[in-house]
Amino acid sequence: MTGKLRKIGWITLLTIFGAGLVLGMASSPEGKEKKPSSYAPVVIKEDFATILTRMKAAKPGIMKRQQELLTMRYDLSNRPAQGVTMSRGKAVQEGVRVKLPAGMTWEQLAALTPEQIKEKDLFPAGFLPLPHPNHPEGGMLFPKFHINEIKKQTGRDLTRFDLDFDLPDQFLPEFPPPIYLTTRPDLGDAIYLTTRPDLGDASKGQLVTIMNHQDLFNGILNPKQLEGLRLLVTPFMQQQFNQTDDRRSELPSQGVSCFDCHANGHTNAATHLVGDIRPQEFRHRIDTPTLRGVNIQRLFGSQRALKSVEDFTEFEQRAAYFDGDPVIATKKGVNILERGSQVHFMAEFQALLDFPPAPKLDLFGRLDPKKATGEELRGQDVFFGKGRCAACHVPPYYTDNLMHNLKAERFFKPKMVNGRMASADGPIKTFPLRGIKDSPPYLHDGRLLTLEDTVEFFNLVTGTKLSAQEKKDLTAFMRAL
Ligand code: HEC
Ligand code: HEC
Repeated sequence: MTGKLRKIGWITLLTIFGAGLVLGMASSPEGKEKKPSSYAPVVIKEDFATILTRMKAAKPGIMKRQQELLTMRYDLSNRPAQGVTMSRGKAVQEGVRVKLPAGMTWEQLAALTPEQIKEKDLFPAGFLPLPHPNHPEGGMLFPKFHINEIKKQTGRDLTRFDLDFDLPDQFLPEFPPPIYLTTRPDLGDAIYLTTRPDLGDASKGQLVTIMNHQDLFNGILNPKQLEGLRLLVTPFMQQQFNQTDDRRSELPSQGVSCFDCHANGHTNAATHLVGDIRPQEFRHRIDTPTLRGVNIQRLFGSQRALKSVEDFTEFEQRAAYFDGDPVIATKKGVNILERGSQVHFMAEFQALLDFPPAPKLDLFGRLDPKKATGEELRGQDVFFGKGRCAACHVPPYYTDNLMHNLKAERFFKPKMVNGRMASADGPIKTFPLRGIKDSPPYLHDGRLLTLEDTVEFFNLVTGTKLSAQEKKDLTAFMRAL
């Protein structure tokens, strides 16, 4: 019986492979202009050594082009904000970092209509979709600090020979980030910490990997959750990290794990291209979202809107890891997770990941006037009043669990930016704002570097015409969430 099933499986696979090849060829008939294809080539014609040499040689030029784009768009200087840090103490960057078009102020810009801004080409470049460091190539890309720590702990190398991560470290989440579990109440409370040292940050300041997860969590999780965590830190084959000639690691790779991006169940801002869209230039760059608080959410993926953490877990492995291409997934060695005993276990662990403590919020998610500053309280009034932010960001977690189309394309003509066609984004999910200071950069593609940038963005896009003071207060409020 099993033998027969296996045979049928192979026939199906061969059929998929065959179809891929045929369609691939049909899309580029000789002598005719090449029609775009949804399929990637299955058989790589160039040998690995040649690809390696060619792409390595092209890398400095590609990285330079991306750095020039970033410098043109943003003020990248290291300016920590006073009096606020991420949960474990990393500085939060302050100030609006998106550069204004020459001669404009934010007030002048906000006084214009979308049509005027579009006509005069005045939409700040940093508000446009952010391209992947090499958009035509795409793929998973990890910050250097993460690559180093994984190499140190496990010997696995997540370096790509063709590309490096692009955004400077000061604009990324703290590393490694603390883990707060719903089953282990968070403890700003000193008494707890002396009597129950296992509470509070469950990672004890370490990056959780395949090497230390047993040590850290045996006795804290139940066996089912432990097995879920094991799978979340276990590497599996992926588009760039695998053992075929069509990989982007110098040596054959052991693959990537979920927590290589969702580091400690939070995020290290590793980036990727969304798998869902074709052609390539329309695919969104995506910034890894935190998994803290996935338990209160109802839509998963910035646009994909899957309905459960279980579905998203399965989708990541089968589809997102391979750019939504099951033909290539099969070639490179997709790991099919078993729903009942693997997907569910992984989801169960993810559902334990809590938001970080927000000691100034009450049970309704509003500021406690006895703990908050005047600035924060004024910011709360703007958030719920004139700023209209709460129309979509509903307390206590500051999401309505819906998607909204912000229609930023009202402000600009579609244009190609380093291989990314900047145009309409379409509807995007309302990301929760609880714990938001811990997860820069902002928006689904990480195009905004600070909370101040998000205030200017939403002020323009929603047309609320906030004053300089109101904007400052709003930032103070979001830092308290
Ligand atoms: C490139 C690094 C990367 C890896 C590896 C990765 N993810 Fe993700 N994950 C992302 C990105 C980027 C998104 C946002 C996807 C989107 O916007 O469509 C995401 C979204 C999610 C979401 C939905 C979160 C939300 O707020 O909507 C869940 C759940 C998730 N991932 C779980 C996993 C699991 C489980 C694995 C391992 C099987 C995994 N991820 C591996 C980057 C990664
Ligand atoms: C019409 C609904 C809507 C309104 C009004 C709105 N937002 Fe949002 N917000 C969204 C959506 C949708 C996203 C995700 C956009 C994206 O990723 O491209 C978002 C994202 C954000 C983010 C980044 C979240 C992250 O994890 O990257 C911040 C910060 C934010 N909003 C703050 C505000 C503030 C401040 C206001 C009021 C001035 C506001 N929003 C008004 C819908 C809204």
